[in-house]
Amino acid sequence: MKKVMDNVYEMEHPLIQHKITMLRDKNTGTNEFRKMVEEIAMLMGFEALSDLPLTEVEIETPIEKCMSPVIAGRKLAIVPILRAGLGMVSGILALTPTAKVGHIGMYRDEVTHEPHEYYCKLPSPIEERTIVVTDPMLATGGSAVDAVTQIKRHGGKRIKFLAIIGAPEGIKKLHDAHPDVELYVGHIDRCLNENAYICPGLGDAGDRIFGTK
Ligand code: PRP
Ligand code: URA
Repeated sequence: MKKVMDNVYEMEHPLIQHKITMLRDKNTGTNEFRKMVEEIAMLMGFEALSDLPLTEVEIETPIEKCMSPVIAGRKLAIVPILRAGLGMVSGILALTPTAKVGHIGMYRDEVTHEPHEYYCKLPSPIEERTIVVTDPMLATGGSAVDAVTQIKRHGGKRIKFLAIIGAPEGIKKLHDAHPDVELYVGHIDRCLNENAYICPGLGDAGDRIFGTK
């Protein structure tokens, strides 16, 4: 992965790039699309969690006692932004099966593109957990900024945001509003179009994951 700016990383792994190409293809059907989102989330999660703190515990191997590292502190919190972020949860859970899962419900107004929050339930104590927010699409950044603001209002501190595709506009908006949040983007695309869709993007992620529309 490469550092694009402070706290912003873009994935470079060939497997991630390959799978993103398959996601973009308009001929990729719902079943395949869902599987790809899950796999990309797992590969991105592997990179994003490479700095999790460790602590040593004593165990006994069949040969002798030794000190060996385990993940320190509270279990992780995965917080998908509904709906599309849900598609990434199982991928992260494959890495950290004991993680807690919260939910933030947001939708973009189709005309104004402004985000609206309709649900928020987070695992407590949220302030003691590393929080992985998932949303495949970071377009204008409005949903991401509001979701992170909400998580911080509930006490969230150590936040990692995983987006499969990011537009430069959304990356800047999230970084300017929350410079402390670590942002991991699968691929940084060119721009937004007049409907605030990412170009070339992959279309409507929620609709493609859930087979709606
Ligand atoms: C999509 C996407 C993000 C948001 C990104 O969700 O999953 O949450 O748009 O756009 P933004 O960066 O301009 O805010 P959408 O509102 O379409 O809801 P859905 O996931 O329920 O389909
Ligand atoms: N939401 C999506 O699902 N796709 C985009 O391109 C922008 C927002």
